[in-house]
Amino acid sequence: MIITIAGYKGGIGKTTTAVHLAAVMNKNATTLLIDADENRSAVSWARQKKLPFNVATESTAPMAFTKIRPEHTVIDTKARPSAEDLEEISEACDLIILPTTTRPMDFEALIKTVEKIKAIDMPYKVLLNMVPPNSTRKSSDITEVLEGANIPVFKTIVYRYSFIEQLPLDGILASQAKDDNAQKVWKQYRSIGKEIFG
Ligand SMILES: Nc1ncnc2c1ncn2[C@@H]1O[C@H](COP(=O)(O)OP(=O)(O)OP(=O)(O)O)[C@@H](O)[C@H]1O
Ligand SMILES: [Mg+2]
Repeated sequence: MIITIAGYKGGIGKTTTAVHLAAVMNKNATTLLIDADENRSAVSWARQKKLPFNVATESTAPMAFTKIRPEHTVIDTKARPSAEDLEEISEACDLIILPTTTRPMDFEALIKTVEKIKAIDMPYKVLLNMVPPNSTRKSSDITEVLEGANIPVFKTIVYRYSFIEQLPLDGILASQAKDDNAQKVWKQYRSIGKEIFG
């Protein structure tokens, strides 16, 4: 299974989603995370060697494939992919995950992304991310709107918790964090994994 995390906006949680989904998938089968963003956020997240899976870049990916023979691959991408980037992704990828916050500006960018992805006709699913924990009502309204517009959306929502911002600096996953909400967040990512793999 090859999963790509994409979106037109920066800072919507692509890298955070990619790292956690790779960890969830790696529990079942060897998973490789490819950091295809020149900012190399996932590579630097992995630098302290505390993540349970391998991270490669586009240039080291062939080597990593030969060496670890991953069953699953997660690709973290940069914001604002070009039409060519999307076409390239669509050739190999089984599912594009589009994280979005519920902020109106991010939402507008999401709809534009969905239109472009629909044009190249490939499987995608929206993930509501960084949702304030006290606004479950609003997010279920949004889920309904998306479903009404025939836009596939994960039932699982990832809520906003400030400890998540510290994870890349510590080089760890939510499951390894010492925070009251850490296991709740990890459970959300596991539940996304269940929605993908059934
Ligand atoms: N659920 C969450 N709760 C709180 N903060 C979050 C959550 N998800 C991501 N963040 C934080 O939001 C910021 C942006 O997240 P992230 O880097 O994953 O987004 P991105 O889409 O990959 O950004 P970029 O476009 O810069 O690559 C980071 O500081 C991250 O720690
Ligand atoms: Mg990123």
